[in-house]
Amino acid sequence: MEPLFITFEGLDGSGKSTHLQAAAGWLEEAGVPHRVTHEPGGTVLGEGIRKLFLHSAASELDGTVEILLVFASRRQHLSEVIEPALESGYTVLCDRFTDSTHAYQGHGRGISSELIDEIDALATGSRSPDATLLFDLPADDARRRGQSGERTVDRLDRESVDFYERVRQGFLERVRSDAERFRLINSGGSVEETRLQVHEALQNLLALPRLESRDGAGA
Ligand code: TMP
Repeated sequence: MEPLFITFEGLDGSGKSTHLQAAAGWLEEAGVPHRVTHEPGGTVLGEGIRKLFLHSAASELDGTVEILLVFASRRQHLSEVIEPALESGYTVLCDRFTDSTHAYQGHGRGISSELIDEIDALATGSRSPDATLLFDLPADDARRRGQSGERTVDRLDRESVDFYERVRQGFLERVRSDAERFRLINSGGSVEETRLQVHEALQNLLALPRLESRDGAGA
């Protein structure tokens, strides 16, 4: 089976990162060679950019500065990690990619999709994932979940619910414009309900065994 480049997208607090870890466990058990990575980050350069990007003491960064930072990280990530992994036969599970830029910098900050596409063409050759799972839920629910528990507050946490609702609409717009690539996961319910949807999406993409044969859960 051809290795796939699969991205997990959604609002902060949507549960995507937790479910990505579970997904990696399923691939491990099924013997599917894979790599797990994330953006911004995934390389030494990218992790440096991530720190600058999220630093809560950073002054206001406008949307164009944000775009230049995330695409610098992305170009390095693609050439140093993602493409070599795919060429070596590893499926790549990546937490966020260019859809996040369209949602956050495009819909959130108001940068035109034409400009994002131009920079994307320059930075990545308009590289698109093979499949994308979008974890969708209302922005105020995601905010509540994202801010519960112990975590460090980052620069993007200062944004309003209105900003996050625009970001959510940005993700849904991406689904409408490229429906074949996306699997829409309703992550507004319980963790178990979301887990089953994620498994079903990956089962179809990667021919994973059914959950019931794995742990008797019945999917
Ligand atoms: P994370 O917490 O899911 O790792 O994401 C870090 C933050 O970076 C999150 O608030 C979304 C934001 N982000 C953008 O604004 N644009 C991008 O292109 C990416 C990849 C992330």
